[in-house]
Amino acid sequence: MKRFLICLGAALALLSSCKESIKAEKDYLLIPSQNHGPEALLSINVKGENILGEKQVIELATDRIDYWIPIDISSVRGSRLELLVETPDGTEAGPVEFRQSDSREFSRDERFRPVYHFSPDFGWTNDPNGMVYYDGEYHLAYQANPYGTRHYNMHWGNAVSEDLVHWTDLPVIVRPDSLGAVFSGSAVLDAEGSAGFGDNALVAMYTSAGRLQRQSIAYSLDRGRNYTKYEGNPVITDLDSPDFRDPKMMKYGDSWVVSVAAGDVIAFYGSKDLKDWTKLSEFGRGIGSHAAVWECPDLIRFEYEGQTKWVLLVSINPGGPNGGSVTQYFIGDFDGKEFRADPLPYPLWIDEGTDNYAGVTFANTGDRKIFLGWMSNWFYSQETPFENFRNAMTIPRDLSLRHNGKHLFLASSPSPEVLAARCDEKSLALPDVIARPESVSPVIEDNNGAYVIEFTAVPDKGKKMELQLRNTKGEKMVFRFDFRAGKLSLDRSNSGIVDFEPRFSNDNIVTDIVPRKEYFVQLFVDRHSTELFINDGDVSFTNTMFPTEVYDILDFIPLDGKMTIKDAKVSRIKRQN
Ligand code: FRU
Repeated sequence: MKRFLICLGAALALLSSCKESIKAEKDYLLIPSQNHGPEALLSINVKGENILGEKQVIELATDRIDYWIPIDISSVRGSRLELLVETPDGTEAGPVEFRQSDSREFSRDERFRPVYHFSPDFGWTNDPNGMVYYDGEYHLAYQANPYGTRHYNMHWGNAVSEDLVHWTDLPVIVRPDSLGAVFSGSAVLDAEGSAGFGDNALVAMYTSAGRLQRQSIAYSLDRGRNYTKYEGNPVITDLDSPDFRDPKMMKYGDSWVVSVAAGDVIAFYGSKDLKDWTKLSEFGRGIGSHAAVWECPDLIRFEYEGQTKWVLLVSINPGGPNGGSVTQYFIGDFDGKEFRADPLPYPLWIDEGTDNYAGVTFANTGDRKIFLGWMSNWFYSQETPFENFRNAMTIPRDLSLRHNGKHLFLASSPSPEVLAARCDEKSLALPDVIARPESVSPVIEDNNGAYVIEFTAVPDKGKKMELQLRNTKGEKMVFRFDFRAGKLSLDRSNSGIVDFEPRFSNDNIVTDIVPRKEYFVQLFVDRHSTELFINDGDVSFTNTMFPTEVYDILDFIPLDGKMTIKDAKVSRIKRQN
């Protein structure tokens, strides 16, 4: 069924609006949208109440339809809906064509949809949020716009996984309210019910981003499927910092500690009950990168050679060594009140690739510290060439402290669950010693753009080599290893679709390599992403790409003499049934 909602431009008012009354007859209302179309505010009123909660910003389709926004109206089937589309700037909004349907009517399997990374079924995502393990499930909430594929209307989307590889996307759990949009935050398991919400409540803290940014809490007693907001919100307010967000909670002894980004420092607060918080200290003045405000902190406890050490993650945007969004970290000590950083050559980066931002760790995983980040960059994330969703998360990584010969650093290793999901392993037909360029094609049988390449490079006479991943159209990702200089660089300037934002096409994305005798390389490829690890976490290097055909040719190119390549193989990651 097709209906047209005709918008009336109100000549004198500042607001032009469209109104239409319809009967809800199917499960979904589908509204056409266009990237960068004029912004409008959508309400769907049933008996005078907006079933969307707040008015939601949508980008109207005026020239073309990029995607249809699927709005679940199944719970009000049979009722009359008053649809209201308002354009705050006074421009004509329509006509707006809408449809009802019993399905969301899009294919989940669009070409850049990752196979083994989390991506939302529909709509925009940025930061991972509310990450907590409980009762056999990893909970991954995420910054979500359920009404479009760009950064508006921040909600918390919700996904769960039993194995950190295959994710089920569930309905949103936290919606905007009169305090503002729902920005990033964390969740913990309150096993003893210290907040009074009940034993084993999952308690989330997020930023209510209105005129002010303040911290609010919500809890779930049904394994994270539904959250109830605390009536005493907000629980933390700081009138001195206009940027005050991304609370990350953790247990410290029998208390709770939360790290919050406040301008370009991190503020720590303590509490016994998750509701009343007292400021403990601040960290960050004069140390690390202050290229932009600080975001998404995470204070993590490690044991290193029998000693407790603490790591503080802090994301900054822009200011990354390769441009845009990046996460730095500090290593030091925390006494329950204050974090003191060891004197190290800051800034230190968790991943110098262009596409690993705002990552934090899951709560309640014991000694394991499992991290994942948002696999994009604010430089271009809103323009990436997806259709019905936009952007994804990295694979999970287990974090640990290691020594690089000079100082401690934070290593990111692909999590064992991802490695355990490898299947259909096949050796790559390569000579042991590579003296001239060698190609492998196909990279893998029935190539669907998702695979893992692994090999060990042993520099010999040669210390430099190139690894090219390419397709028959000549599109390629070119990784250049210089083991003598301790540098790895990537040229993705000819990797496929690169012109959606000028800052995407980068021919020299560089990271340091920790010097060792051998270099075990793991390259996780998943439709629009590459995550390259060296020596199981000495280096992690995450970079997206948008090839118009899958990469099915792999070249090993020695640049300055022969090099030994051992155990080169390729595998898939098991798909969900
Ligand atoms: C980081 C960030 C956070 C904020 C969220 C808003 O990417 O800017 O600081 O809470 O995104 O979506």
